[in-house]
Amino acid sequence: MPPVMGRRVPVALSIAIAALLAGVAGCSSPAEAPAAPATFSAIYPRLFPVTTKSQCNFCHGLPPNDKSNGSLSMGMDKATAYAALVGKIAVGSACAGKSLVSPNQPGLSLFLQKLGPGDTCGSHMPLGGDPLTSEELDQVARWIAAGAKDD
Ligand code: HEC
Repeated sequence: MPPVMGRRVPVALSIAIAALLAGVAGCSSPAEAPAAPATFSAIYPRLFPVTTKSQCNFCHGLPPNDKSNGSLSMGMDKATAYAALVGKIAVGSACAGKSLVSPNQPGLSLFLQKLGPGDTCGSHMPLGGDPLTSEELDQVARWIAAGAKDD
């Protein structure tokens, strides 16, 4: 009798540990993390305000000038940035004629293209700063795909 009991306890214990580990792994899985809201109100404070040199307003908060910001001035507040981007056409010499934010069409929006790792006119943004994370890029793409609303 004792040998049988002796084997059963560790088996039960290891099943309990396996279940516990599976539960913990499930909780921390990135697939279950809630996606960041794809609104301009959520995007603006992450990308624009000047708390680091990487942020857009460091250069694009200045008056339009081809050398310092590709003649794209986005002001210092959310409403000015929105008005400068959505439905507007690039005028900077590197990218003139391209749509900045084309609602519902992330693939045609220079704003997203400049932030991503793929081919683009001129340089990638933020110029000289840390590239956006894939999660931030996804958030911008979803915002444009959902109509690029001033939300
Ligand atoms: C250190 C300065 C600097 C920072 C920071 C910066 N930019 Fe730029 N940006 C430029 C310059 C200079 C150009 C023009 C040359 C080019 O297109 O590569 C430009 C061009 C652009 C253009 C094309 C404008 C046009 O009309 O042709 C977009 C869109 C853009 N930037 C978006 C951004 C965004 C979004 C951020 C923040 C994530 C950002 N930039 C951060 C300097 C900067």
